[in-house]
Amino acid sequence: MSIELRPPKREDAADVADALNRFSRAFGMPEETTSGIENWFAAPSADIENDARVAVLDGEIVGYADVSDSTREGRFLWIDTGFDPAHPDVVAPLLDFTEERARQLAAPGGAIRAGAPEPAAGLRKLLESRGFAFHHFSLRMAADVTGELPEPVWPGGISGRRFRGPDDEQAVYGAHQETFADQRDFEPDPFEDWQYWSYRDPFDPELWFLALDGEQIAGIALCRSEWGGDTDFGWVSVLGVRRPWRRRGLGLALLQHAFRELRARGKSRVGLGVDAENPTGAVRLYERGYGGRAQAHLVRQAGGLGWRDVAAPRQVSGLPDTDGRRPRPGLRVSRLRAGVRCRSRPRSARLG
Ligand SMILES: CC(C)(COP(=O)(O)OP(=O)(O)OC[C@H]1O[C@@H](n2cnc3c(N)ncnc32)[C@H](O)[C@@H]1OP(=O)(O)O)[C@@H](O)C(=O)NCCC(=O)NCCS
Repeated sequence: MSIELRPPKREDAADVADALNRFSRAFGMPEETTSGIENWFAAPSADIENDARVAVLDGEIVGYADVSDSTREGRFLWIDTGFDPAHPDVVAPLLDFTEERARQLAAPGGAIRAGAPEPAAGLRKLLESRGFAFHHFSLRMAADVTGELPEPVWPGGISGRRFRGPDDEQAVYGAHQETFADQRDFEPDPFEDWQYWSYRDPFDPELWFLALDGEQIAGIALCRSEWGGDTDFGWVSVLGVRRPWRRRGLGLALLQHAFRELRARGKSRVGLGVDAENPTGAVRLYERGYGGRAQAHLVRQAGGLGWRDVAAPRQVSGLPDTDGRRPRPGLRVSRLRAGVRCRSRPRSARLG
């Protein structure tokens, strides 16, 4: 049996989603959809012909990998690999391709990052043998919202409303970029990319919540009505509070408001992704917001040529480990193929 690597075609999307889901299912829950992969292939910053490969074995797509760099500045090159666990032999050639491509695209001093689920020991070992070392965890948190949910308490002077479309667009984009600039290794989303990812199907403007102080945006919670095709599962893509309004309870109020609104739309679970070492205390905020019902998925990253992620998902029954370094002993490991950070863009290239 020989493995063929070739650039993906748009019509491969369903097979790529299937291969990636076989991988993520082995470690937790599937999270790709055909339309999600089509979106990825068609993204403004994507160069699928040169940056992605499918691994084909006996005519069947059994693996996929790509390199992405939304800014195209070569500062961070994200490698994402997924494969059918029945065919682990396809991983090495996929990594050979993506690492070589990442080297070509990297600026001097640029870093390569890769993610892998904690339970995918073979993939982690392979990455480590190639110079990837642990860097940090990223959490994916999900909670059941069918029970009692606290009412948000809005700080004085703040009022809330929904997104009103084009009139709000620049202000929301600005608030998103400004607040997220406080995350580690922030890379701004080019406006065209931001629009593309924000408005991808199924975009629902009713799930974009703005907190206003007079005319000014103080904070935003931008949510989606599904995750990985699961319409019972609401997703908080972006939560940001601008600096002058922080530490007054607005972040928590926005989160609680988002949960209630998502539940009002029939969602039974809500989720989000976050860097375990978020410097603005987002993890503590989420722990509060989730009321201890969270399950967390941790991602890792590492350093070699640059540094890289090794995604490490976990499920915890209580609060996640927030030191960003070591999984707590005794936690049940669940899954994760590609971490998704709390922002507009999906997939591992945006690991938190
Ligand atoms: C994370 C973020 C949304 C939090 O917003 P926020 O409005 O400051 O959140 P809150 O005020 O609800 O809680 C933050 C802290 O303020 C404290 N706080 C809340 N009300 C307070 C008050 N009246 N007085 C003093 N402190 C208060 C909270 O206890 C919490 O403390 P902690 O840091 O010890 O956990 C904001 O810092 C942000 O936009 N960060 C950058 C973007 C980001 O990382 N987003 C999350 C990515 S997934």
